[in-house]
Amino acid sequence: MTTTEAQLSERRQRGIIKIHGPEAFKASHKAGRLAASALDMISDVVKIGVTTAELDQLIFKFAMDHGALPATLMYRGYTHSSCISINHVVCHGVPDDKPLRDGDIVNVDVTFIVDGWHGDTSRMYLVGDVSRKAARLVDVTYEAMMRGIAEVKPGSTMGDMAHAIQSFAEAERCSVVRDFCGHGIGRLFHDEPNILHFGKPGEGPVFQAGMIFTIEPMINLGKANVKVLSDGWTAVTRDRSLSAQFEHMVGVTETGCEIFTLSPQQLHKPPYSSL
Ligand code: MF3
Ligand code: CO
Ligand code: CO
Repeated sequence: MTTTEAQLSERRQRGIIKIHGPEAFKASHKAGRLAASALDMISDVVKIGVTTAELDQLIFKFAMDHGALPATLMYRGYTHSSCISINHVVCHGVPDDKPLRDGDIVNVDVTFIVDGWHGDTSRMYLVGDVSRKAARLVDVTYEAMMRGIAEVKPGSTMGDMAHAIQSFAEAERCSVVRDFCGHGIGRLFHDEPNILHFGKPGEGPVFQAGMIFTIEPMINLGKANVKVLSDGWTAVTRDRSLSAQFEHMVGVTETGCEIFTLSPQQLHKPPYSSL
């Protein structure tokens, strides 16, 4: 089913985008911080030879040890605690028994439910010696996300934010994936609105204090086109070019926004700089 622009704007006017209060911000921060801690925990483990199933198991155990539920477990038939997307996999990579290899770039995406509230975040990891072009893509993607987040404040539009991401990524000769987007989040995993990572300044809904959503751009070295493999989950670039993604969950405040998924150990992105 497709949703027309008119239907979308009607829903917005009826207030489908939730405005959350301080209690929701507190709960979202707690869930977001725990998800970010899980990404911190695996950072020493993501190495040549480790399988993505082993990483997924560690994330499952971390959730159990900390009173959280992995939101992806049994979500629409998905049976893992994380999505792990390697190289040309754009998103929703399914953990399996294949070991990581020298030079892989890997996204790990974790969503935890804590006290009924969702915390959703992902980061890139570098395995062994990564090529300069792959390392550059990872840097461009992180910077694109942060430039988008810098635009989130009351009165700005979702298009302002999206344009900041798209214009930076494209100036770096990369492309922005259109088929997947960020989302409102809270007690629901995927709530209204869709958060696009491409667009024009002034377009789209206006940010209001109390909105909570994710920003999770997927950026490709080649063309933006993706396809989903026959497992029904794994999304890959059609041209098999490398793809990277970072995801933060934010809440709009009176003056800007609060990032709920900052790394408690300051491991926001891999330790190198190629820009
Ligand atoms: N965590 C992903 C997101 O950022 C969603 C994964 S849904 C799954 O929205 F079913 F694929 F796990
Ligand atoms: Co998300
Ligand atoms: Co996610």
